Amino acid sequence: MNKRPVLLRHAAQLITLQGTSEQPVTGKAMSDLHIIEDGAVWIEDGFIQMVDTDESVTAFYRDRLHEAHVIDATGRVVTPGLIDAHTHLVFGGSREQEYEMRLAGKSYMEIMNAGGGIHNSTRATQAASEEELYELSYKRLNRFLQYGVTTLEAKSGYGLTLEHEMKQLRVAKRLHESHPIDIVSTFMGAHAVPAEYKQDPDRFVDIVVNEMIPEVAKSGLAQFNDVFCEHGVFTPEQSERILRAGMEHGLLPKIHADEIEPYQGAELAARLGAVSADHLLRASDEGIRQMAEKGVVAVLLPGTAFFLKAEAANGRKMIDAGVAVALSTDRNPGSSPTENLPFMMNLGCQTMGMTPAEVVVATTINAAHAIKQAHRVGSLEKGKVADLVVFDAPNYAYMQYHYAVNLVETVIKAGQIVVEKGRLTDDLSVSSA
Ligand code: NIG
Ligand code: FE
Repeated sequence: MNKRPVLLRHAAQLITLQGTSEQPVTGKAMSDLHIIEDGAVWIEDGFIQMVDTDESVTAFYRDRLHEAHVIDATGRVVTPGLIDAHTHLVFGGSREQEYEMRLAGKSYMEIMNAGGGIHNSTRATQAASEEELYELSYKRLNRFLQYGVTTLEAKSGYGLTLEHEMKQLRVAKRLHESHPIDIVSTFMGAHAVPAEYKQDPDRFVDIVVNEMIPEVAKSGLAQFNDVFCEHGVFTPEQSERILRAGMEHGLLPKIHADEIEPYQGAELAARLGAVSADHLLRASDEGIRQMAEKGVVAVLLPGTAFFLKAEAANGRKMIDAGVAVALSTDRNPGSSPTENLPFMMNLGCQTMGMTPAEVVVATTINAAHAIKQAHRVGSLEKGKVADLVVFDAPNYAYMQYHYAVNLVETVIKAGQIVVEKGRLTDDLSVSSA
């Protein structure tokens, strides 16, 4: 822990998002970033102590200014640490050959139904040791950190047996404890129907419900339960059974919904009061309306649409309908192999009709709400964890305009400077800690 306080000074735009911790941000409020010009933040003991204009903060701490490590953010935008609310972080192998097959005309679902896709990554993940998965994922986390991500959600779902799902979840826990990024875990045993249950998928659902969920819940290794509700994977009825079983064991529901075909996934999320429904490329208008009514956060994944060459989810329509929108990478080996969350913001503007202000809300406080972390992170306010990013951009619109490059200059995680001049400060090479 940093003994010295950190004083961040003179931010051209200090994006605070003050007052947004209670409820996900919706509608016109998604355009209000609560900006302080020439802003400053005093950080001590890992937490934010004061957020105000440079004049006010330096006046308040005038007797202690000499103690502080000063970061000069003149001419820079400063945001809360970015939050990625949907990743499949822990897996073995990679699928560049399938990418080549897709470029040659095969579809994502064709490859999966022929035993590739998620099944391919499941084989690689089952074959990998805990140590190997830890090292691969640690490297991915380092990349996330360089893109300004300080908290992320990680799903299991490439184990597909109790033993291997638990292995993935244990790796996520170890990463949470040893890497600066905070990890929130989701169990996703219902990510695909294993080949041996193809003729009788309900038997696999029985195993998820009766064997996996109770054990996972008992272990305390996951907070959420997710399911791939999609034509040819799990039906809405099977998905409901799986999510309700999780709820009975205290696992909060999330859902991969309406990604490839319209399938009543958004409606199911609303009916269950899911914390979030994710993907939603093909969600129905009625499903969107119900999500708004029930306060289900839409976690949109523009990188997946981009990489699968699909039409992106209609973020504009959802925001106008009153749905709280978050944006995430969906980091996974098949449909979105990237850690570049700022590029998802660019895509949100380019392909989803969102504005530069809305994409900031979608990757900070609304992402925090989508993983139940808004009481700790997602905005810059006294008492919150001191997670901040300094961007080499004079204003937040510039962050979207100068697109697809990494503008992250400095990252502060829980009061520690973990990225400086765009580089990791510490020796964040893999340690077996
Ligand atoms: O969110 N849609 C299902 N699951 C992942 C992809 C997993 C994979 O292809 O390995 C997703 O896109
Ligand atoms: Fe996903």
